[in-house]
Amino acid sequence: MKDKIIDLRNTPLVAVSSIRSPKYAARDFKGILILNGEIVLRTEKLSHDIQEEYKGKQLVLLGVLDGSVHFIKDLSEGIGLSLQRTFIKVSSYKQGTVGGDLELLLTPMVNLDGKDVLIVEDIVDSGRTLRFIINKLTNSFKPNSIKSCALLDKVERRLPGFEDVKADYTGFIIPDEFVVGYGLDYADNYRGYKHIAILKPEIFSENNSDK
Ligand code: IMP
Ligand code: MG
Repeated sequence: MKDKIIDLRNTPLVAVSSIRSPKYAARDFKGILILNGEIVLRTEKLSHDIQEEYKGKQLVLLGVLDGSVHFIKDLSEGIGLSLQRTFIKVSSYKQGTVGGDLELLLTPMVNLDGKDVLIVEDIVDSGRTLRFIINKLTNSFKPNSIKSCALLDKVERRLPGFEDVKADYTGFIIPDEFVVGYGLDYADNYRGYKHIAILKPEIFSENNSDK
């Protein structure tokens, strides 16, 4: 079926100083976990697998804003099929809040009835967002199928009751660290950095974020 799992949990980091990077990178990042070239190569493989699975189907790539923007661009360019691409947005928690229900802030602009929907996420963490989206789509539309593709997966972070949440396509399994770049953010910063880096713990603290 799919390909092998790529597990980066014991991978040494690339020093920020060893590649050309903006000034903030040396200041704020512990190191680089995935270089852009590795992301691109892996995404090409995912695109190829998706192309094989969705030949002859009515594929809709449904990106989850804002983090999936870089990923869905590269992913959709690599899929040699006619496809539709649209976005949804799910609420994230403000500082210090825990638990409660997620909320759909933007509904899909494409009618998903009868379509083969592939949710495109930047990262699966607790598992709450992906499960929420799948439930929401199942209740609001009559898609032919719903699957998911996540660039990153922090498998160790699933909340109790969410252990079975897993994307159908996964780019990389990563350690339980806060990552930014290639669309992923911390308080909307760092999305434009082209590699995926680990944020220094002193920048990210449990007290000033929901993650
Ligand atoms: P979940 O609902 O806990 O699985 O979280 C999924 C969402 O949390 C992702 O779509 C991201 O927006 C965000 N998130 C989780 N971990 C990270 C991280 O390490 N860096 C940036 N965003 C993250
Ligand atoms: Mg996200």
